[in-house]
Amino acid sequence: MRILVTGGAGFIGSHYVRAVLDDRYPQAVGARVTVVDKLTYSGNLANLPVGAERLDFVHGDICDAGLLRELLPGHDSIVHFAAESHVDRSVAAAADFIHTNVMGTQVLLDCARLAGVERIVHVSTDEVYGSIASGSWTETWPLAPNSPYAASKAASDLVVRSYWRTHGLDVSITRCSNNYGPYQHTEKLIPLFVTNLLEGKPVPLYGDGHNVREWIHVEDHCRAVEMVRAKGRAGEIYNVGGGVERTNLELTHQLLELCGAEASAVRRVADRLGHDDRYSLDGTKIREELGFEPAVPFERGLRETVDWYRHHPGWWKDVKRAATSEAAR
Ligand code: NAD
Ligand code: DAU
Repeated sequence: MRILVTGGAGFIGSHYVRAVLDDRYPQAVGARVTVVDKLTYSGNLANLPVGAERLDFVHGDICDAGLLRELLPGHDSIVHFAAESHVDRSVAAAADFIHTNVMGTQVLLDCARLAGVERIVHVSTDEVYGSIASGSWTETWPLAPNSPYAASKAASDLVVRSYWRTHGLDVSITRCSNNYGPYQHTEKLIPLFVTNLLEGKPVPLYGDGHNVREWIHVEDHCRAVEMVRAKGRAGEIYNVGGGVERTNLELTHQLLELCGAEASAVRRVADRLGHDDRYSLDGTKIREELGFEPAVPFERGLRETVDWYRHHPGWWKDVKRAATSEAAR
């Protein structure tokens, strides 16, 4: 079997690729993987076992139809992670989000159709539903994205649905909650706060920190994506929730404790524009249909994640250095 993974040099995509190459997924044992990644600021070859026998890395853009037409024939499945993924960046400048997340997804689907790729998973997000004060979203909840990032993901979900309905493409959508784990870019809350605290620096908490996020370990998310690839139904959406809700303030206090830092390290800073209050997914469908349950307990996963950053300063210092030079440009 050959699986093409878009965005495989990013945080979640690289975990999926390593798991396939380690034969951790029963339905993908022995599979060859082609990663197509543009290596934007968030793509990082240090996330991948470059040189592994069953891995082919292609430095390329999912908006490049010519490249995809050349690459796709011979692949059985596509797992589509590639995206602009950071909400704050979409608030500052949205064009790349619409280009990659919407146009790139459409180009990929078109080329997949022409190449006769049998199975596709489009990796989306809970943010397409907006914000929910109480209760949890099921897959039939109306879309009400609030940030340009979330809007671009919602738009891409609709394009995916149309290719299933119109062209009969065998494609499913996953909508996952907030991921955490090793190899996450230091622009995101957990790695930013952990690495700042490890450096003895303050952490910038937006607003009063009341906003709630639902957390899932990246390995659980990737396992769910693979279950959907192997057994999910065409045209269906599957929520993938971790089931653990924390306010940002609660999470910050846990991180302070794990890093041995004082509460004085917290700096209240201006709130994110349009900041969603709460995310919460109902995971009944994927549990009942595919038997998926998150396996990594949050307290253990968070402790191990902090330890990973503590023991891999070379990885995150390079990422932070690149971000500083990008900001200076
Ligand atoms: P990431 O930013 O770490 O990685 C994105 C990858 O896509 C990078 O390697 C980047 O180089 C690549 N990329 C960007 N534009 C590209 C293009 N035009 N062509 C080819 N490659 C391109 O993101 P992530 O956190 O790993 O998220 C992966 C996917 O999962 C995204 O689709 C995101 O919307 C979704 N998701 C993320 C989370 C989360 O908590 N991080 C939760 C739910 C869903
Ligand atoms: O819910 C899934 C989404 O989770 C994914 O689709 C996105 O790709 C991913 O980036 C993530 O989005 P969030 O905006 O929830 O993640 P982020 O880590 O940017 O922020 C988490 C919370 O922490 C959010 O309420 C904003 C807050 N925050 C974030 C940063 C970066 C702070 O208080 N301070 C910060 O410096």
